[in-house]
Amino acid sequence: MAILENYQLQAYNSFAISARARYFSAVHNVDELRQALTAAAQLDVPVLVMGGGSNLLFIRDFPGLVIHIVMQGIHLSAEEESSVMITAAAGENWHYFVSYCLQHGYYGLENLALIPGSVGAAPVQNIGAYGVELKDSFVELTALLIDSGEIVSMDLQQCRFGYRDSIFKQELKNRAVVLSVTCRLSTEPCTSMAYGSLQTALAHHARPVMPTDVYAAVCAIRRSKLPDPAVLANAGSFFKNPIVSFENYTLLLEKYPDMPSYTLGLVKNLDKSLDKSLDKSPEHNPANPEFIKIPAAWLIEKTGWKGKRLGEVGVHTEQALVLVNHGGGSGQQLLDLAMSISESVAAEFGVHLEAEVRVI
Ligand code: EPU
Repeated sequence: MAILENYQLQAYNSFAISARARYFSAVHNVDELRQALTAAAQLDVPVLVMGGGSNLLFIRDFPGLVIHIVMQGIHLSAEEESSVMITAAAGENWHYFVSYCLQHGYYGLENLALIPGSVGAAPVQNIGAYGVELKDSFVELTALLIDSGEIVSMDLQQCRFGYRDSIFKQELKNRAVVLSVTCRLSTEPCTSMAYGSLQTALAHHARPVMPTDVYAAVCAIRRSKLPDPAVLANAGSFFKNPIVSFENYTLLLEKYPDMPSYTLGLVKNLDKSLDKSLDKSPEHNPANPEFIKIPAAWLIEKTGWKGKRLGEVGVHTEQALVLVNHGGGSGQQLLDLAMSISESVAAEFGVHLEAEVRVI
């Protein structure tokens, strides 16, 4: 396993920011990972574990060891009556995994198609799109605990998934490296089409709508709204959608009657094996109107930022939640833009925007 010095990270982050790692190592298996962690301890430098680099914003060079996870492999870990358990190594590309499952007739991940990044990063922020989150199919993962060197299995509850959140962004932040992820997927066709734009896209589709149709619709919606990082550098949603109290929500609604909000009730057909009762996030629970999620994109658009460009960085023209690097922009320029946007939103709506992207 090689440790490279003064390594350029531009090709490793989807914002295409030019930043250097003091040390860099690509690890292909657990032994190499252990060696890299030992090397970082001996060098007495911090560690940054990186998958696809699609949720990171480098605002300076990284003074430690970047460990790039490239472990590969997908295998069936169990076959049940109408479902399978499928395990993917952390370094697999997420979209490749979704496509692989669909091609093999394992259903449940279609709504998560085209999300950039790696399998290992998926549980860290409980990736989600079009009414589905990773946790809906998740069974368990394996992770290496950095302090003890122990490899542990963690189930759904232990991962403490929330909206773009998990134990890996909380207690285990920088303390665990995800090695593999196991999902339970249905072998009987099932679809999840509750999300507004997905329903619209499939409204005139011949029935029954199949998982392949949902996959195609999700890919088409994403391609129409979200820039391909290979063409226009970006890291998906820059901010999380804010969750406000019901009281604040009603006050805002009086002032902005056209303000959209999320009141998702997921419609999932067929797959009885997925435990819907575990979906405890308040915005998904119509019986608990205590908290309401508001689309940050709407708040940003209302404050006039959509499509704006400041030098080499800007706000995407089709989706106000996505910040873009037009080429040659720095991490600091993007961070300044993000701060200006959140100041505008706070001043206009009194709502705090929290970054989804990790600033390094
Ligand atoms: N909207 C605007 N202006 C815009 C875009 C959207 O006002 O420029 C409003 C519209 O009312 C629209 C609503 O915002 O109906 C929601 O927009 P969209 O469906 O595009 O979703 P989002 O809330 O902006 C979230 C996720 C995305 C995910 C989509 C689809 C977060 C932070 N983002 O975005 O995830 O793809 O839903 O499910 O939750 C990501 O995490 O990187 C990401 C792209």
